[in-house]
Amino acid sequence: MKPDVQRYENIQQLSATAAELICQLAKICVNAHGYFTLALSGGSTPRSLYECLAREPYVSRMPWADTHLFWGDERYVPANHDDSNFKMTSRSLIEHVPIPLANVYRIPTETTSPEVAAQQYEATLRECLYIFDPLSESKNLPVFDLILLGMGKDGHTASLFPGSPVLEEQQRWVAVAPAPKLNPPVRRITLTFPVINAARNVLFLIAGAEKQPIVQAILENPEKAKEEYPTARVEPNDGKLLWFLV
Ligand code: 6PG
Repeated sequence: MKPDVQRYENIQQLSATAAELICQLAKICVNAHGYFTLALSGGSTPRSLYECLAREPYVSRMPWADTHLFWGDERYVPANHDDSNFKMTSRSLIEHVPIPLANVYRIPTETTSPEVAAQQYEATLRECLYIFDPLSESKNLPVFDLILLGMGKDGHTASLFPGSPVLEEQQRWVAVAPAPKLNPPVRRITLTFPVINAARNVLFLIAGAEKQPIVQAILENPEKAKEEYPTARVEPNDGKLLWFLV
């Protein structure tokens, strides 16, 4: 699948355009089905976007009361750990916007094991199916309005790493990923491809010259790239695929 690729001069321009897109999409989704379901990405690239959404003009435009936040993946560390995606998104976004805390669905990492965390998060998604796109019921999958993703230097996305057994998961919505070679080398909890590819919109934010060869490889030959780079396997069944690059 060829994504809609947009290149930016700098991370500020990329983030402002992404924030504008999210505000517009949120309004459309709330008008259409009452809610806006957004799965956040971790890593460092999206921090600038989250900070953008937390200030004017975007913070006043977002329908926070009807916005429901989830995570595409999480490191199996405490929520206040410096490697926690929840901590990064709290500091850059959640603590600064008027979103009801009941609308924030953190991946629980205080559980006895990452397997229990994955089971609990999948149960949360099942309990929340009513707030997802009405398609969710018929598809028996949470159809997110928007999933934000990044891409690592090895072509991974969320916590779907090259060679991981989780790449082949077709039943579970949420799975445990073994600790990767990349930092932080901790086990992860991640959405699986069936859920990611059910989304109505997927937006990749990809920054860094070192990633450009993988970007090019996927754009030039997506089918071949699938063998090596999990990012190439994100192909929304009925949704839109956008890549914002800098
Ligand atoms: C994570 C992310 C991961 C991230 C990529 C890119 O938990 O780290 O979900 O998939 O998006 O590793 O990270 P950067 O934006 O920091 O390059």
